[in-house]
Amino acid sequence: MEILTDRLVLREYSEDDLELLHSFRIDKNISKYIHWNDLSFEGTRSILKEGLDDQKEENRKYYHFVICLKQDSIPIGEIGINIKISNIYGGICILGYFMHKQYWHNGYMSEAAHEIIKYAFSELKLHKIEAYVDCKNKRSIKVLKRLGMKKEAKFKKEVFVKDRWEDVAYYALVK
Ligand SMILES: CC(C)(COP(=O)(O)OP(=O)(O)OC[C@H]1O[C@@H](n2cnc3c(N)ncnc32)[C@H](O)[C@@H]1OP(=O)(O)O)[C@@H](O)C(=O)NCCC(=O)NCCS
Repeated sequence: MEILTDRLVLREYSEDDLELLHSFRIDKNISKYIHWNDLSFEGTRSILKEGLDDQKEENRKYYHFVICLKQDSIPIGEIGINIKISNIYGGICILGYFMHKQYWHNGYMSEAAHEIIKYAFSELKLHKIEAYVDCKNKRSIKVLKRLGMKKEAKFKKEVFVKDRWEDVAYYALVK
């Protein structure tokens, strides 16, 4: 599946993307505020497999897309949602994203996220999008606010980062 925006192609992962996904995960600028437990190549392989297996399911849990520039198909990052709950009355998903630093500050992530939210509300019929963000991650908080997401809560000392516990903010957008 592909989703198009003005400047981007959002395409789902394929078996050929193992090295790409690993390059995202070991990028220190990306992992500064994203806390992955297992950064080994085998860890990446199992995450990719889980995603690819899920693509074949009728009731999917994950919709994760590689963000590519439309002009030259270069992959620059990832955006995805994990479905937390879904039934005939609606559903809730958690939004996540990251991008190699050389592509920051062009509006790409806000553009991608805007389309993903549209997809989640109109195609997947969800009613709420959530995001959890390290309170120090100012760039990501700006993206969430630009999308119209509202801060609903702050969890103090919620994630362990390197040598200390950090606060996490919870943002959400209701349809
Ligand atoms: C979070 C992250 C994706 C944000 O990247 P970003 O470049 O700030 O976000 P966008 O791509 O939406 O770009 C927005 C910026 O581009 C600017 N911009 C420049 N040209 C633009 C254009 N043509 N259209 C729109 N915006 C443009 C905007 O003004 C905005 O700048 P500002 O933040 O100073 O106001 C990036 O910092 C990242 O990957 N971080 C590491 C991973 C991470 O923390 N993920 C989130 C975990 S919760």
